[in-house]
Amino acid sequence: MTMGFSGEVAAYYAKYRRGYSSQVLDVLQAALELDANDVVLDLGCGTGQLAIPLASRVRSVIGMDPEADMLRLAKESAAREPAQNVTWVLGSDADVPDLGTLLGKNSLALTVIGNAIHWMDYRDLFVELRPLCRARGGVAVIANGTPLWLQDSDWSRALLGSLERHYGRKLEATCGTGTHDRIRYAQALHEAGFEDVQEVVIEQRDELSFDQIIGGVYSAMPVDELPEPGDRADLTERVRQELGPQTVFVEDIRVSVLVGRVE
Ligand SMILES: C[S@@+](CC[C@H](N)C(=O)[O-])C[C@H]1O[C@@H](n2cnc3c(N)ncnc32)[C@H](O)[C@@H]1O
Repeated sequence: MTMGFSGEVAAYYAKYRRGYSSQVLDVLQAALELDANDVVLDLGCGTGQLAIPLASRVRSVIGMDPEADMLRLAKESAAREPAQNVTWVLGSDADVPDLGTLLGKNSLALTVIGNAIHWMDYRDLFVELRPLCRARGGVAVIANGTPLWLQDSDWSRALLGSLERHYGRKLEATCGTGTHDRIRYAQALHEAGFEDVQEVVIEQRDELSFDQIIGGVYSAMPVDELPEPGDRADLTERVRQELGPQTVFVEDIRVSVLVGRVE
């Protein structure tokens, strides 16, 4: 099944998407009391941004994603790390009931969903996950910042203008990162029987190069909207012109970790 994160988009994702700081991993570890006996599911694992660093903190991680190209690159990254305890599984949120039958009740310390919940039928998913959680385990829904073109900075507004001219339409989708999205997910966790639902926010700052910005943009385009190489070079050049002569772009990143736990 391809969802748009295939081919060159997957390659841009692996190369340019920001990973998660140790602070974020510490929050997950503390909130769900993760230890070396635990099994974690990273649903919508992409190229392994969470699955790989989590692997050193638990017994085993299942990295699950419906996009074969993302999984292939995740596997390649894991081979370069001490992360041999990740099992990569081709599947989506719709496959969680079958995974649950395989694993059994109370088997997962944590299901983490990073920048991927907006693709999922999250209400049904949370209900399916609830009985799979071990005691004091749960679900973490993470938003790793705001899309590069929707931020409160001059360069981000210039980027938005450039991309909207390119697409000929408004780009407003927040991809699950907006305040309203977070409230919806928190409510759904609560309704599915998770207790103690809370949001931990981690503020970070990064300095991006132009290549990181444009690479990040291409990592977020559906593969059928990624321009052909010649047109891509033109678009890259237009964006470069419109962002101006600066070479360093400061990004203030708000990482939201929404955690629902069971007793
Ligand atoms: C933006 S990437 C996030 C990757 C990684 N978790 C991260 O935090 O960077 C979204 C991922 O969700 C996957 N995805 C799309 N639809 C999905 C679904 N219904 N169930 C599970 N994963 C899905 C995509 O293939 C893609 O790899």
